[in-house]
Amino acid sequence: MQITPLIPESAPFTAEQRAWLNGFLAGVLQRGGGTNGASAPAEAKKPLLIAFGSQSGNAESLAKRLAREATSRGFAARAAGLDSLQPADLIKDKNVLLITSTWGEGDMPDNAVSFWDAINQNGSSPKFDGVNYSVLALGDKNYADTFCLAGKKLDQRLAELGATRVVDRVDCDVDFDDLAKEWSKNAFTIFGSTKNQSDQSDPSDAEPAYSKKNPFPAKLIANDTLNAPGSAKDTHHIAFSLTGSGLTYEVGDALGVFVQNCPEVVDAVIAAHGFDPNANVGSKTLREALLTDYEIRSLLGKTPESGLTLDSFLENLRKLQPRLYSIASSIKAHPDEVHLCVGAVRYTTDGIAHKGVASTFLSDRLALGDTTGIYFHAANHFRLPTDLTKPVIMVGPGTGIAPFRAFLEEREATQAPGKNWLFFGDQKRATDFLYHDQIIAWVQSGHLTRLDTAFSRDQEEKIYVQTRMLQAASELWQWLEEGAHFYVCGDAKRMAKDVDDALHKIIETQGNKSADEAAAYVAEMKKTKRYARDVY
Ligand SMILES: Cc1cc2nc3c(=O)[nH]c(=O)nc-3n(C[C@H](O)[C@H](O)[C@H](O)COP(=O)(O)OP(=O)(O)OC[C@H]3O[C@@H](n4cnc5c(N)ncnc54)[C@H](O)[C@@H]3O)c2cc1C
Ligand SMILES: Cc1cc2nc3c(=O)[nH]c(=O)nc-3n(C[C@H](O)[C@H](O)[C@H](O)COP(=O)(O)O)c2cc1C
Repeated sequence: MQITPLIPESAPFTAEQRAWLNGFLAGVLQRGGGTNGASAPAEAKKPLLIAFGSQSGNAESLAKRLAREATSRGFAARAAGLDSLQPADLIKDKNVLLITSTWGEGDMPDNAVSFWDAINQNGSSPKFDGVNYSVLALGDKNYADTFCLAGKKLDQRLAELGATRVVDRVDCDVDFDDLAKEWSKNAFTIFGSTKNQSDQSDPSDAEPAYSKKNPFPAKLIANDTLNAPGSAKDTHHIAFSLTGSGLTYEVGDALGVFVQNCPEVVDAVIAAHGFDPNANVGSKTLREALLTDYEIRSLLGKTPESGLTLDSFLENLRKLQPRLYSIASSIKAHPDEVHLCVGAVRYTTDGIAHKGVASTFLSDRLALGDTTGIYFHAANHFRLPTDLTKPVIMVGPGTGIAPFRAFLEEREATQAPGKNWLFFGDQKRATDFLYHDQIIAWVQSGHLTRLDTAFSRDQEEKIYVQTRMLQAASELWQWLEEGAHFYVCGDAKRMAKDVDDALHKIIETQGNKSADEAAAYVAEMKKTKRYARDVY
């Protein structure tokens, strides 16, 4: 039987999408869903798998929100982390939307690693013939060379393995909401949504009172230097009041903070370009707009383009983004407060002194009693065990201590009987032992079962947290075998990798395993959420 194409040539689809959609609609009509008015048997709901690879929660929240929307559009939709999926699940569900971020330097997020490894082997990779899919890649254009690389790789590999890309991949910069909406709208249409978007109103999508779009103006109530005089570091304990907000959070979550550029930097940039600081930019002056709305860090030390108009100058600037900080407190220990541990970023390149926008805004420029916009960023991948008897091992050098101060406060408040082991490190014990008194009090009370510190500059040879892990290999292995959850927070570039290598080595040597067996043990820990990382 000849199928009459139902989708007009002028419809906004590619030829591939149009062909697929025509085939799909023809199938529906042949099964009795035609337009002759006869009552057709109820169609089974179409499965739609929304898989996510997510490190800090953006892709996960989006996938869950889109799964709710897809359900209300008539799909049998589910959101699932890539760590909980096998290639066979895609073959079974057939219709797949995949949302993934990129981490490290072009790496897969932790929960996508095992899935990627499973589909990226030569020879034994599964075939995805019959699977229809589309990828939404989350990323950050500041990572120019690796922008959305994880999404690009997954998209390419699925196609290589025979899956049909029914909607082109969309690559998103940090503000991904609008592109994600457009992409999901196209995808739902292509996959055969049975209801219009305007029909939908998902009560669980209702914006909370305060969010990234409507941040709470929180008052700064503490800013204490955590390093002693003489330290090469400048780390601050920052506390905001949540009074009047009705907001709460869970340990493991991060706080989004809206920040301002340094006024001196703003003035220098305006002067270098010869602009009028009082020129109108929307409802603000240029000076006000450069303080709050634009990323200007990269302009320092650059020779301004001659004859540049104010409009084209602003067009080339990126929006100033809020920054995320791991929450360093439990709300059970500090009602109506949220604490952070912030390392002030200061460095010199080519003789020019630079300072991090957000970290120095919080450390140097926001006065006690002043307010700035905040919102909570859920980190469902970074949670304490629900079983309070389980032991936890926490590796958090430098500002990586933040979520572990929160974990320990929480475990104290809930009287969790499980054992707690902390690895902390920094440059020098005398000046850089962050939260020293509180940590030592926990050792003395027995709340902290074991503390291992690594101060790299207190002796000739460099000692790091991973050195201490290897020295304690036998006991660490014993804790793992007792079901301990293993957490890492802090520097993503070196520390997290070195700690991961040490973990593999310990499992290999203490558990008498081959490298592959140790890797499988670690993969299983990740899958069962016993190995979680909050690294940046
Ligand atoms: C989930 C998450 C949790 C986080 N938790 C914490 C936390 O608990 N505590 C904390 O302090 N930070 C934390 N961060 C990092 C934090 O969000 C900011 O990235 C950090 O404070 C720097 O921001 P900034 O605006 O001060 O610096 P920016 O103005 O953004 O400048 C940073 C940039 O400066 C450049 N740079 C920095 N140092 C050098 C150097 N030595 N040489 C050359 N270039 C350099 C790099 O390009 C770097 O990207 C977290 C990040 C994430 C994503
Ligand atoms: C430490 C770190 C490394 C990152 N590396 C990349 C990268 O290489 N390429 C990219 O496009 N985005 C990169 N990003 C940006 C994230 O992909 C982006 O913030 C994304 O929205 C995070 O989504 P998630 O919360 O689901 O993990 C990085 C972000 C951080 C904090």
